[in-house]
Amino acid sequence: MKSIKIVATGSYLPEKVLTNNDLEKMVDTSDEWITERTGIKERRIAAEDESTSDLCAGAIKDACANAGIDPSSLDGVIVGTSTTDTLFPSTACWTQKKLGIKGMAALDVSAGCSGFLYGLELATSLIVSGTSKRIAVVGGEVMSRVINWKDRRTCVLFGDGAGAAIVTEGVGDSGVLASNWGADGNLAPILYQPAGGSQQPASHESVDAMAHTVHMEGNTVFKHAVVAMSGAVTKAIEAAEVSGDDIDLFIPHQANMRIMEAARQRAGVDAEKMVNVLPKYGNMSAATIPVALHESNLAGRLKDGDLLAMTAFGTGFTWGASIVRW
Ligand SMILES: CC(C)(COP(=O)(O)OP(=O)(O)OC[C@H]1O[C@@H](n2cnc3c(N)ncnc32)[C@H](O)[C@@H]1OP(=O)(O)O)[C@@H](O)C(=O)NCCC(=O)NCCS
Repeated sequence: MKSIKIVATGSYLPEKVLTNNDLEKMVDTSDEWITERTGIKERRIAAEDESTSDLCAGAIKDACANAGIDPSSLDGVIVGTSTTDTLFPSTACWTQKKLGIKGMAALDVSAGCSGFLYGLELATSLIVSGTSKRIAVVGGEVMSRVINWKDRRTCVLFGDGAGAAIVTEGVGDSGVLASNWGADGNLAPILYQPAGGSQQPASHESVDAMAHTVHMEGNTVFKHAVVAMSGAVTKAIEAAEVSGDDIDLFIPHQANMRIMEAARQRAGVDAEKMVNVLPKYGNMSAATIPVALHESNLAGRLKDGDLLAMTAFGTGFTWGASIVRW
């Protein structure tokens, strides 16, 4: 076991709510279709003057307040995001600026919706190796800026938000029992933002072609997501030498209720142990797991010694799962 402790969690969710009924007025869709096919009812949308680093800074502030520490006492800031403030520098650096802190290492993890679990894996290794003592791991996204609001196949799915966890050295038996992470870059074109990077720099043509927005083969993503997310968590449960029955709380990446259900069933975890914030927030990419974790923590669903299973999949294709003794 890798001895670490998530001493506090926090979140930041923009105020503006966009409901399925609002979307009915924007594209040819219905509340019934979105609810049945995805499980989503509404999502949050960042204000015009808010970028990803504002959301991340808000989540870190909340988590630090809950931990009773000052953000300046962190010795690492790891941000999982696909919707960076700028191509460079990192959103983690912009987050430092928004928090008015400096000195500690700050970096982004580009692993799509698996970004928070990738960040947690890195933070765990840094703490266990003695390199760091107190790291903020954040998942934050402003998906609304990379959505084609005329494409009903994608615009109904995503939302904005950020969640954070403060990770320190272990306390008692707390720690990561096992984890599983991986990627298959051959699947990159099934879910990506084509333009804006070195492959296809911004141009009038790229803007006209809506190439700066999410391009996704929904059905293909769906199939790979079920296999990747359930495979990662099943392997992590086995490596931890526990069973689905032993898991007290199950937090899958919140993209689609049918994918979450398939992963839960394959992992052998009872339905009442699964956290579901998807109806309220939609798919906030890297932010879904830390926001769900924070809301579970606030609701008192995690006690010392409990076993928490988290699992994710995302663009890349990436996947990850962690079994944590709380
Ligand atoms: C996107 C997704 C919800 C689509 O659900 P689906 O059951 O696969 O639906 P399909 O894509 O087969 O489309 C079925 C029909 O609904 C239509 N449709 C698509 N979006 C719609 C919408 N918002 N409202 C109404 N109809 C819609 C399609 O045009 C299609 O119509 P057709 O049969 O006349 O061509 C589903 O594929 C999915 O969740 N994929 C994974 C996406 C994901 O998680 N991405 C993030 C990864 S981190």
